[in-house]
Amino acid sequence: MSGTHRQPVIAANWKMNLGPTAAAEFVERFQTLSPDNTAGTMILFPPALSLAAVRAAIGDISDIRLGVQNVHTEETGAFTGENSAPMARDAGATFVLVGHSERRHVFGETNAETAAKCRVVVGNALTPVLCVGETITQREAGETNAVVLGQLQEGLAGLRPEQIVALVIAYEPVWAIGTGRTATPRDAATVHVLIRGVLVELAGEGGREIPILYGGSVTPENAQALLAAEEVGGLLVGGASLDPDRWASICAAAGAASR
Ligand code: PGA
Repeated sequence: MSGTHRQPVIAANWKMNLGPTAAAEFVERFQTLSPDNTAGTMILFPPALSLAAVRAAIGDISDIRLGVQNVHTEETGAFTGENSAPMARDAGATFVLVGHSERRHVFGETNAETAAKCRVVVGNALTPVLCVGETITQREAGETNAVVLGQLQEGLAGLRPEQIVALVIAYEPVWAIGTGRTATPRDAATVHVLIRGVLVELAGEGGREIPILYGGSVTPENAQALLAAEEVGGLLVGGASLDPDRWASICAAAGAASR
């Protein structure tokens, strides 16, 4: 099955960039470039502090969805500096990035914490975008499949099949993130097919409908070829999503790929 059998999910991970003022300016500029962004689902993941500004800038009529980049495993409490899933929902988010490689490798997040976050996100009627991916050392040691499998099986532990089918998965090879070194569509397809197999094992036939996004140095130039790869159901974009013109080009590529 090709990656074009359903409408793509195109997600922008702004990481720790674009404060409220810059974020609102981004949305204003983007809307002048791409008034018709109805091809598929578009999700913006601004920093939590910019969520309200983005929400205000997109207004009521836009079909842009919002997400947060991280939540704590607990819903409330003495966790200075953290944000929770109920707060994200209250602030207008419908998606949450879980297990992004920077959470895993910069902040030491384990598969067990990732699983706890998936559970609290689902428990608050939000959709986790569970990110998985191997490091270059793991890839060169031939461990890609084992690492990705472990991240999926452990990250989804405790979720029932009917909860798993509502998720979004993102495959982001760590060596491709922010490096300019993109996986080839073929490399991406190999791992996406593996992920699809695991999802069907864990969630039954419904696992075939779960969007599997590719992320890692996606650009306007490579977006369409990646979207055409087998089982690639969308894109998770970091650096190239910070510029409204480049982001609009990626959205246009997704629109073209979905036709
Ligand atoms: P990048 O980041 O597009 O800058 O490689 C992707 C991500 O980390 O989600």
